[in-house]
Amino acid sequence: MAHEITIGPHRIKSLRPGMPVLTLAPMAGISNWPFRLICAKMGAQMVGVEFINCNAILHENPKTLQMMNFCDADIYRDTGMSLLAAQIYGNDIGRMVEGARVLEDKGAQIMDINFGCSVPKILRSDSGAAFLKDIDRMMNAVRSVADAVSIPVIIKTRLGWDHDNISILEVVKRAADSGAHAVAVHARTVAQKFNGTADWSWIARAAEVSPVPIFGNGDVFTYQDAVRMVDETGCAGVMIARAARDNPYIFSGDVTPTFSERVRLARDHLGMMVEYKGEKVGVMEMRKFFASYFKGFPNASHLRTSLVQVDTVTQAHRILDDWVADSDRHSHDA
Ligand SMILES: Cc1cc2nc3c(=O)[nH]c(=O)nc-3n(C[C@H](O)[C@H](O)[C@H](O)COP(=O)(O)O)c2cc1C
Repeated sequence: MAHEITIGPHRIKSLRPGMPVLTLAPMAGISNWPFRLICAKMGAQMVGVEFINCNAILHENPKTLQMMNFCDADIYRDTGMSLLAAQIYGNDIGRMVEGARVLEDKGAQIMDINFGCSVPKILRSDSGAAFLKDIDRMMNAVRSVADAVSIPVIIKTRLGWDHDNISILEVVKRAADSGAHAVAVHARTVAQKFNGTADWSWIARAAEVSPVPIFGNGDVFTYQDAVRMVDETGCAGVMIARAARDNPYIFSGDVTPTFSERVRLARDHLGMMVEYKGEKVGVMEMRKFFASYFKGFPNASHLRTSLVQVDTVTQAHRILDDWVADSDRHSHDA
């Protein structure tokens, strides 16, 4: 198992020897600085920012300005804990270049280009995975962005348009020539969207022919899945999205967090989200995380039901305090 990946000037090591290199995938609406920092502290060696539209960057759209808060990158720079990969998307290569320069100025350590988003609105605008329809255009975008920024460029893409048009092997070979330092492969086609299963055998083939490191992505739901993906495909690292959203502890290895660890995680995340988005929006956006952080924990369904309805920080802490007191009482009774 590879324990070190080189991306430009960066050496990415696994959290512990014997573990795969695990990274947080970009996720719209999820991968903001509080969540990235949580995952980095858990052990994610590179953290992806939610995708950012180049036009919105250039128009200085307020929501986009908020997304470009890369305050966590300073911590990564000081501690070496992780690396921040900001992801750009768009349809106009000139604007993608300008947007990428802004993301670099804001503190991104790695520039990721989105060639994988299969949302119909994005495809209709010739952005995201639409680039897979014209690989010359895709490579032109890679080359243009790579020439414009001084940080290393990576790309994130899918296997191809559909099963009859798998292009990932051509993409990985040409991406390196066009200046990409790594390729993240979501092992589904564009036509599949999120349906069916990820076909990891293509990650193996891509890893075999690629001159640059391959991050395997798709259907890693547990830490054991990540280990298996590296074993089966030989990919250099694993990029995790949905399983990380539900359980950031996946980055720490084969661990099962205790109830009090989950409570601490929920409280820390809540505090940062409120700092980032203010109390009203921060608490509302935390509800989905509360639901997943206590999933599967014995007798916690009532706790989850209460937490997904909270409106204020005080309410959330009170509910957690009551549960901690209750679980302490039970452990003393036992
Ligand atoms: C809520 C959500 C938001 C996503 N947003 C992005 C994004 O902004 N950029 C991107 O490249 N992929 C995005 N993806 C795709 C994931 O990065 C990843 O490729 C996909 O979920 C497969 O990995 P998984 O099986 O580990 O979830 C998103 C996925 C989810 C579930």
